[in-house]
Amino acid sequence: MPTGPSTPRPAAASSGQKQQQFQLQKPSQKPGQKPTARPPQKPPEPILSQEEEDALLAKRFKFLKNVKVRLPFTGTQIPPSWKVLERYPVNSPFAYAVIAQSPLLSRRYYLDEVPLTKTEAAIYSYLLDALEAELTVPREQVNPRQYFADQARKILLKYNIRVPAASWSKIIYFAERDLVGFGVLDGMMRDPNIEDLSIDALAKPMFVYHKGYESLETNVTISDEEQMDNLITRLSHMAGKHVSTAFPIVQGTLPGRHRLVATFRREVSPQGSSATIRKFREDPLTIIDMLNLNLMDFKIAAYTWYLMQNRATAIVVGATGAGKTTLLNALVTLTRLNTKLVTIEEVQEINIPHLNWTSLVSRESYAATEERAGEVGLFDLVKAAMRMRPDILCVGEVRGEEAYVLFQAISTGHGGLCTLHADDSASALQRLISEPMNVPKAFLPFLDLVFVVRRIAVPAPGGGFRAVRRVVALDEVVGPEEVSRSFRWDPRTDTFKASYDKSPKLEKIARDNGITMDEIMREIDRRALILRWIQQKGIRNFKELSPILELYVSRPEEVFKTASSELEAKGIAVAEILGEYKPGGPPQ
Ligand SMILES: Nc1ncnc2c1ncn2[C@@H]1O[C@H](COP(=O)(O)OP(=O)(O)OP(=O)(O)O)[C@@H](O)[C@H]1O
Ligand SMILES: [Mg+2]
Repeated sequence: MPTGPSTPRPAAASSGQKQQQFQLQKPSQKPGQKPTARPPQKPPEPILSQEEEDALLAKRFKFLKNVKVRLPFTGTQIPPSWKVLERYPVNSPFAYAVIAQSPLLSRRYYLDEVPLTKTEAAIYSYLLDALEAELTVPREQVNPRQYFADQARKILLKYNIRVPAASWSKIIYFAERDLVGFGVLDGMMRDPNIEDLSIDALAKPMFVYHKGYESLETNVTISDEEQMDNLITRLSHMAGKHVSTAFPIVQGTLPGRHRLVATFRREVSPQGSSATIRKFREDPLTIIDMLNLNLMDFKIAAYTWYLMQNRATAIVVGATGAGKTTLLNALVTLTRLNTKLVTIEEVQEINIPHLNWTSLVSRESYAATEERAGEVGLFDLVKAAMRMRPDILCVGEVRGEEAYVLFQAISTGHGGLCTLHADDSASALQRLISEPMNVPKAFLPFLDLVFVVRRIAVPAPGGGFRAVRRVVALDEVVGPEEVSRSFRWDPRTDTFKASYDKSPKLEKIARDNGITMDEIMREIDRRALILRWIQQKGIRNFKELSPILELYVSRPEEVFKTASSELEAKGIAVAEILGEYKPGGPPQ
C-alpha cells in the first residue's frame, strides 16, 4: 500500500482503547466463513434529512465517539459572489470541477467534493485506521483500486459496520482517494481537461493548466508542513522513488505514466516542498489531431510524412510546455511501422504503435559519492542504443553530452529525432554547438528539419484571446549557421505559408533516387490528399492511423484511387488539393 512514512500509526494496532471498541462489535463473520459479496439485505431506509441521518448514525456508532476524527483534506468552497462558468463531473457523483469567476473577473478552478458529515468523517477515520492496520500487500499483481474496495468491504463485514449506502459510498470515495489514489489531487488527476498540476510551495495555492482556460489557480492550498511532506513522500513512493532531505529532488513516473518532478522540504526549495505533474495521454495526439487543431496544415504534414519516410532527422524546438514532446511523438508515428526504433528519455513519455521499439529510460543514482555510482544517464543510454543498430534513435530531450553521441549516430546514417529548449532554429543550432552539448559544427547539416513550436494567444471567436499551439517555422538545416525555410506561420491570417519548392533536402532525395522535383511535389500533394481523406473519415487514433499510412506507402495507387473517389463523393474537390502546387512556382 503506498502510504507515506508519517501517516498516523494504525489505530487498531496501536490503541488499546480502540482495540476494545472493535471488540464491542459483534463479528458478523464466523471463523473460516467466506465474506459474502454483499451485506445482508435490509428493508429500504426511510428518507431522512442530513441531520436526522447524522443523529441516527451517531447513535448507531457510539463506539466512534473516541475516534480521533481526521477530516479528509479538501479545497475551499466557492464564494457566493463568484459566478460559475462551467461545472463538470470528474468522479461523479463525488467530485466536480468548477471554473468560477470572481466579481473582479479573475478565474479559479474549484475541485468541488461532496462533504462528509461529522459522523461520516468519524467512520472514515475509523475505516482508514482499520485499513492501514489490516491491509496487506497482495502477492500477485492486482488493480489497487479494486483491491482496496474488496478490503474495505471485508472490514465492513468483519466489524459489522452498518452504514446507509449513500454514506458508505462517500466514505469509500474519500478512503480510496487517500489510500490508493492521489489524495487531494485525485480529482484533478482524473480531469481530462487538465494537462499540468503545480504545487509551487507550501501555503501557496496549487495551479493547473486547463485545456480550455489555461493556467488557473485552484482552491487547494496545503499549508501544513507535515501534510505536504506526506503528499510529496506518497507521490514519490507511487513513482517508485525515494525522497528525503538527503535526496530532495525526485523525477519519476506516477501510475498512469504521469511525469512527476518534486522537491522535498526546504532543502532545495526555500519556500517548501514543490511538485509538478505533467499528465500523460493514453491516447497521444497524432498528426491528424494536429491538423484538426491547426498546429500545422496538410502541406506541412504531407511534406513531413514524405521526409520522415526518407529517414529525415528532425529536432523540435520550443519553450517549456510548448508541445515539443507531443509533436515528436506524432513525428515518430509517421515513420514506417517496421522501423527499428530506440527511444531514450528521462521519464517515459513517448507512446507509439511500433512493435520493433525499445524504450530506454535513464536512472539516477542514490549514492552520496561524487562518482554517482549506479547512475545511468542519457549519454550512457545513447551509447548503448547505438549498439542496438536502430533505424531511428529518438531522444526525448537533449541537454548535455548525449547530443554529441546522437549527432554522431546521425552522421553515420541513423535516423535521429529529439527535442530541445530553444526559441528558434538559430538559437537551437547555437545551443547545440555550445557547452555542454558541444556538437561539432560540421555535424549540424546532418540535421534535416527544425520544427519551431510555440504557444500563442490568438483572438477568440467570442472576443478576448485563447491560447493555441502552432508550428511557427519549419526549417531545413543547410549549413552550420544557415537554414532554408520551408514553412512559416502567418500570425495575421493564422495560416501557413509554404516555400519548399527549392528545398535542399527534397532536391537531395530527387538526386539520390533519380526522380524529379516535380514528381516529389506531386507526391507531397497526393499525401496531403490522403491525410485529408483520413481526417474526413474521422480517423485520428495512432493505432488506426499508422496502418493506413503504411497501406498507402505499400499500395499507393490503390489507396489514392479509393481516397480520391471517396472525397469526390463527399463533394470535396480533389483537383483543388492536387492542383495547389504549380511546378516551377512557389506553392501558395
Ligand atoms: N498541439 C497541442 N494541442 C493541445 N494540447 C497540446 C498540444 N501539444 C501539446 N499539448 C499538451 O500540452 C502539454 C505539454 O506538452 P508537451 O509535453 O509536449 O510539451 P513540452 O514542450 O515537451 O514540455 P517540456 O518542455 O516540459 O518537456 C501536454 O499536456 C500535451 O498533452
Ligand atoms: Mg517535453
